[in-house]
Order: sequence, then C-alpha cells, then structure tokens
Amino acid sequence: MKRTLKDRCPIIEFTDLGDERGKLVVIEGNESIPFEIKRVFYIYGSDATVVRGQHANRQSEFVLINVAGTSKVRITDGKEEIIVELNKPMMGVYIPKMVWKDMYDFSEDSVLLVLASTHYDGSEYIRDYEEYLAEERSNKYE
Ligand code: TYD
Repeated sequence: MKRTLKDRCPIIEFTDLGDERGKLVVIEGNESIPFEIKRVFYIYGSDATVVRGQHANRQSEFVLINVAGTSKVRITDGKEEIIVELNKPMMGVYIPKMVWKDMYDFSEDSVLLVLASTHYDGSEYIRDYEEYLAEERSNKYE
C-alpha cells in the first residue's frame, strides 16, 4: 500500500522527563528520531510576515521542533500537502529527503530547532520548485 505524505512525515511526541523542577526533553539520534544527528541549527527572530525554507533536500532528513513559541510547516511532494503546527517543545515533525517545505507564521517568541542528518552542503538543496517537481517525478531518490 502506498504511504501517504502524512505517513512519511510523522509527528514525533518526545517523552517528558520533567518533574516539579521543570520540564526536560531528551532527543537521542537513532532512538527518538530515525537518524544520527550531524547538525543542529535554530531559527529565531522571524515573524508572521516571513516564509523560510522553500526548498527540498536531496540528502538531508530533518526533525523540526519549536522549543519556544509556534510556527507552521507546509510540506508537499507535489501531489499531497500537509500543514503541521509546531506548538509545543515536546513535539517534532520528521521531514524525509526530497519533500518541499516552507516554514511560516512564526510567533515573535518562536525558536525553531532543526536537527539534521547531514553536515551542511548547499549543493544538495533544491531551491527551485519546478526543478524539484522534475527531480521528484524522475524518482531518482526513492
Ligand atoms: P537557508 O537555507 O535559507 O535557511 P532556511 O531554510 O532555514 O530558511 O539558509 C540561510 C543561509 O545560511 C544560507 O546562506 C545558507 C546558510 N546555512 C549554512 O551555512 N548552514 C546551514 O546548516 C544552514 C541551514 C544554512
């Protein structure tokens, strides 16, 4: 049976190890997320007027977590589209290779943490949507 885009981009609920002293969330590569973490970056200081992302990655997988504030992620494979609201530090969304994503509607206090499976390589980014659709249709990365 064909996997839907939603199946391919699951929401991950992390375990809360918090107690009366506060919350604690732990993310270990290949345990709570399906890859070894090679890179971490975070986006803040964005707001409701900007759209970030707007690319697909030929090699990288990501998990996105709003550790503070909220944002939305629109994910498409050119056929289906899903929108995920990231609104709690205990949830993330897994983004596989070769899907197109936009991050937008950032709250002013948004800190969007991104865990990546690769070191940065600008050449694995596809930043042109038509080019993405053509590569996706040719199915080279399945
Ligand atoms: P960009 O990919 O536009 O950010 P986003 O997808 O989050 O909107 O990246 C902005 C700039 O930062 C661009 O010049 C590439 C650079 N960059 C790195 O050097 N390393 C990285 O890991 C990332 C994510 C970006």
